[in-house]
Amino acid sequence: MSTNRIPFNKPCLAGNELEYMAQAVQNQHISGDGPFTLRCHAWLEQELGVQKALLTTSCTHALEMAAFLLDIHPGDEVIVPSFTFVSTVNAFVIRGARPVFIDIRSDTLNLDETLLEGLITPRTKAILVVHYAGVGCEMDAILEIARRHGLIVVEDNAHGLFGKYKGSYLGTFGALATQSFHETKNINCGEGGALLINDPLLSERAEILREKGTNRSRFFRGQVDKYTWVDLGSSYLPSDILAAYLYAQFEKASEIQGKRKRIWHTYFSGLQDWAEEYLVGLPYVPDTCEQPYHMFYILLPSLEYRQALINHMKLAGISAVFHYLPLHTSEMGMRFGGKPGDCPLTEKISDRLLRLPFFNDLSDGEQAQVLEGIQSFRF
Ligand SMILES: Cc1ncc(COP(=O)(O)O)c(C=O)c1O
Repeated sequence: MSTNRIPFNKPCLAGNELEYMAQAVQNQHISGDGPFTLRCHAWLEQELGVQKALLTTSCTHALEMAAFLLDIHPGDEVIVPSFTFVSTVNAFVIRGARPVFIDIRSDTLNLDETLLEGLITPRTKAILVVHYAGVGCEMDAILEIARRHGLIVVEDNAHGLFGKYKGSYLGTFGALATQSFHETKNINCGEGGALLINDPLLSERAEILREKGTNRSRFFRGQVDKYTWVDLGSSYLPSDILAAYLYAQFEKASEIQGKRKRIWHTYFSGLQDWAEEYLVGLPYVPDTCEQPYHMFYILLPSLEYRQALINHMKLAGISAVFHYLPLHTSEMGMRFGGKPGDCPLTEKISDRLLRLPFFNDLSDGEQAQVLEGIQSFRF
């Protein structure tokens, strides 16, 4: 067996990362909210058209901030897809919320908005949407249901930077939205994230709780003459060294997106006939959505075929991975009453989905090897 020659992911430099990190050190401001962090905030606000963006140490922490800001209390319920990363749920559960798991649509793998109203109770506080693979959820319907029931919408947009729904950027629909700049994302700084704030009433408190519950941000802007403890909080701001790395990637965003678009389409066209012949599902992007080319997945006919394909690829030195395990049947999910059968599509998709190697510098030759690896698999 060969060692993996084509990894699933590889962090790729876009250009000025090392130079900007050196500059951050020379600036003698390597703690949070230095010059590079402020540039990142301004870039996100201008590019996406959000009222306020705050860098965080991860998307997980941005989600924790969201739960804090919404004053989630024990007994509150949040509706959340079972088909997501654990942080979408955990951030709210650590504040005492009970997760109410919703199943997904078979086409986009996003939460099935037609099931929402059946899950709303007097205790429901928020709907947590996840734009899977950066393909937008049905936001018109979701926002209308939320408005009718007085619920807050939070977008976990970990996958979806630059994705659009009906012409507007994902991350601009909910009161709050979160981004991930983890190494596996289109634009990254190793570990990092951002909280996007679309409700102006939440802005000032967001700054405070990100700065350990103090009004230090107002102090730095000269708005108060000393800073002090004013609220609950923690430390969610990344070092300016990381922001410097990230800013170098922001600067090259269109180049990065261009590369990823090409990779995605090469997979799609290269696999279409094969997928049709062997009844393998390929990603679906509705006309209402523009996708950010975050991932390429395929849906095998069964768990057995998926495992056999993973093994076949491994022998060819190619790493292909799967996610997510349904949260409602996880150990924690079952403590909240989850049981097999609650989210049938999530359970099926989770067994069948396989993600192909996808990183900014994946070469044509490497991609040809991946395609060959898949096409040489015998069903
Ligand atoms: C949907 C979703 N939300 C949240 C996260 C957590 O992101 P981070 O690693 O930046 O905390 C991930 C991780 O990939 C994710 O897939």
